[in-house]
Amino acid sequence: MTLIFDATPENIEKAATRLRSGELVALPTETVYGLGADATNDHAVASIFAAKGRPTFNPVIVHFRDKSEAEKAVEFNDKAELLASLFWPGPLTLILPRRDDANISLLCSAGLPTLAVRCPAHPVAQQLIKALGSPIAAPSANKSGSLSPTTPQHVLQSLGENVGMILAGGKVAVGLESTVVDMTGDVPTLLRPGAVTLEDLRHHLGEVRVELEAGGAHPKSPGQILKHYAPKTRLRLKAVDVKPGEALLAFGSIKFMGVQGGGAAKDLPANARLNLSEREDLNEAAANLFSMLHQLDAGGFAAIAVMDIPELGLGMAINDRLRRAAGAQ
Ligand code: TXA
Ligand code: MG
Repeated sequence: MTLIFDATPENIEKAATRLRSGELVALPTETVYGLGADATNDHAVASIFAAKGRPTFNPVIVHFRDKSEAEKAVEFNDKAELLASLFWPGPLTLILPRRDDANISLLCSAGLPTLAVRCPAHPVAQQLIKALGSPIAAPSANKSGSLSPTTPQHVLQSLGENVGMILAGGKVAVGLESTVVDMTGDVPTLLRPGAVTLEDLRHHLGEVRVELEAGGAHPKSPGQILKHYAPKTRLRLKAVDVKPGEALLAFGSIKFMGVQGGGAAKDLPANARLNLSEREDLNEAAANLFSMLHQLDAGGFAAIAVMDIPELGLGMAINDRLRRAAGAQ
C-alpha cells in the first residue's frame, strides 16, 4: 500500500526509520520530489534503480545536510567552495572527485570516479537528512524517462507501489531539477541548466563551458543520453497558433493567438489552454512547467502546442526540458 504522509515531525522520524532499514522514501526538495535511499547502504541504493526502471550506468545525486558533510565524500576545489558558499543550500549540484574513503555506496557513482553532491534547501529534506544521520541518495521520484514530479500525487501516479512512503511538502518552489555543474576540470562545465543560471555561474566563475547534449560515446552526464522528461502527448514547440485538437501551453498573452481554421486561442476550453506565466515571469513558468505538462498530457489531446520561451536565465532550463521532451517522442 502506498501512502502520502504529511511531513509532521513524527512522520519524518518514521521516514528516517524506513530509510535506516533500507527502504525507499519519496521526499520533497525545492526543485522536484526525490526518491530517497540511505546513500551509505548499497542494497537501498540498488532498489532505487529497480523502482525507477533506471539504467544502472546512470549515477545518482547524493544530498547532504551541509558542505562539511559533503566534504567527507568528495574533494572540493576553490571554485566548488565558492559555488557552495553562494548557492547552498539550494538547487545546485556539483560533480566532484570522489574521496577514496567516502562511505557512500559506489552505486551512486555508477562506475565514475566522481560523485554528484548537493545540499537541498527544502526544510523537510533537511529534517529528514538530520533525522537519518546519513546523506540521502535521490534521483527524481518518477519512472525513468518520464516527467519529474512536482507534487506528491505525481510521485504516486508514476511510482505507485514501488514506494512505501511519500512525505508531502506541498508543491515544490522551483519545479525544475537542480543545475548540474561538472567541477572536475580546469573550466567548470554546465551539464544541466536549472535555477542557478548560466549567467549566475559566469558572473561568479568567469569562463563556464556548456555541454548539454550528449557528446560522443562518453557523455559527461550519463543522464544526458537518456530520453527524458517526456509526456506521452506530442509537443509542438515555438507554436504561433493552435491546430484543431491541440491543447495550448502558453507563455505570456494569448490575446492575438489564433486557432487554425478559425477561432481564437483565448476561447479554447479552460482545460485545453494553460499559461505557464501570463506576466512572462520565468520563475513562475519553471514552477508550473511539469505540473502543466502532466495536466495537459492527461487530457487526451492530439498534441500540445507550446509557445516560444526566451533563452534567458531560467528560460534556458525550461527550453532544455522542452527540447528533450519533444526530442524523446
Ligand atoms: O533537483 C534535482 O537534482 C533532483 C532532486 C531530487 O534533488 N534530482 C534529480 O536527480 O534530478 P536525477 O537522478 O533525476 O538527475 C541527476 C542527473 C542525471 O542526469 C545524472 O546522469 C547526473 O545528474 N549525474 C549524477 N551523478 C553524476 C556524476 N557523477 N557525473 C555526471 N553526471 C551525474
Ligand atoms: Mg530524473
